[in-house]
Amino acid sequence: MNDPVSPAEALRKLLDGLPPRQAAQAVDRLIANYRGATPTDAPILRDRADVAAYAAYRMPATFEAVRSALEAFADAVPEWTPGSHTDVGGGTGAATWAVAATWDGERPVTVLDWAEPALALGQEIAAANPALKEARWQRARIGASLTLDDTDLVTVSYVLNELPAPDRAALVDAAASAAQAVVIVEPGTPDGYARIIEARDRLIAAGFHIAAPCPHSAACPIVPGTDWCHFSARVSRSSLHRQVKGGSLPYEDEKFSYVAAARFPVTPAPSRVVRRPQIRKGQVLLDLCEAEERLDRTTVTKRHGDLYKAARDADWGDAWPPAT
Ligand SMILES: C[S@@+](CC[C@H](N)C(=O)[O-])C[C@H]1O[C@@H](n2cnc3c(N)ncnc32)[C@H](O)[C@@H]1O
Repeated sequence: MNDPVSPAEALRKLLDGLPPRQAAQAVDRLIANYRGATPTDAPILRDRADVAAYAAYRMPATFEAVRSALEAFADAVPEWTPGSHTDVGGGTGAATWAVAATWDGERPVTVLDWAEPALALGQEIAAANPALKEARWQRARIGASLTLDDTDLVTVSYVLNELPAPDRAALVDAAASAAQAVVIVEPGTPDGYARIIEARDRLIAAGFHIAAPCPHSAACPIVPGTDWCHFSARVSRSSLHRQVKGGSLPYEDEKFSYVAAARFPVTPAPSRVVRRPQIRKGQVLLDLCEAEERLDRTTVTKRHGDLYKAARDADWGDAWPPAT
C-alpha cells in the first residue's frame, strides 16, 4: 500500500521503470545544470528524464525540508488549518505532499510551474495521495506580471535561488497579496539564508507576522556575513540515490533555511535552538535565538531537573523550552 504521508513510495514505484543507467545519467546532467549559472531563461527540467531525475534525487529532500518548516509553522498557529494551498514553482509537488502530511483533510491545491514535464510527473506521483487527487497542475511563469488568486497558504520551496532579484521580489509580493500565510524554503547556505532574509523583510513590510523559525518579527540578530540561520532534516536515501551519490549511509541530512509568516496573529516559539545541541557530561549547551532579539548560549544542567531531560531530547530547530 502507498504511504499517503510521504512521496517516497510513490516515487519508487514510478522510477522502477526507469533503466538505472539512464536515471543516473539524467541525475548527473541535472547536477551539472544546477551547478551552472542560475537563474536561467528557460526551464532546467526539460523532459521526463530530467524530471524523473529531479524527483528521485531531490524531491525526498525538499519534501522533508518543507515538512520541517511547516511543522514549526503549525506549532505557532495551532488553531489554523489552510483551507486552500498554492505551491508556486512547485515542480513535482514536494510541498503539496508536505502540506498534506502536516494538516489532515482535503483542500483545493494548485501547483504553478513553467516546466510542463515537472507538472505532468508531479500529477502522476500525486495520484498515490488521496489529498492531492484533485490538485490542479498549471503552467505559469514567475516574473513581474505574476498574479496569484487568493488562497490561504502559499509555499515557495527551493525556487527563489532560480530567480533574478526583481522576480524574487515580485514573487514574494504576489504571495503576500494573495495569501493568509506564506512559507518559503531555500537551501541552507549563506546565499539561501540571505534570500530568506530578503523575503522576510518584504513579508514584514507587507504586514505579516513571522511565525517561524524566528521568535519575533524584529530584525534578525545575525550580523550579515558572520553566520547563517539554517536547519537540518533527515532524509532516507533511495537505492537510486545511493547508486548515484555512492556511500552506504541509509540517510542524509538536508540543510535548509526558511521563513513562515501569516497575516493573522501567531504565537512564535519563545526561543529556538539554532545549532545542534552539545551534550556534555551532566549538561547540555543550547544555542538559542531568543525573543529578546539576540542569540545566546544557555547551559542546562542536571540541577534543572525536568528541563535537563528536555534539553537532552532537544534537537536543532526545536522550540525552547518545549511546550508542556
Ligand atoms: C529546485 S526546483 C523546486 C521544485 C519544488 N518546489 C521542490 O521543492 O521540490 C525549482 C522549480 O522552480 C521552477 N521555476 C524556476 N524558475 C521559474 C519561473 N521563472 N517560472 C516558473 N517556474 C520556475 C522550476 O521549473 C522548478 O520546478
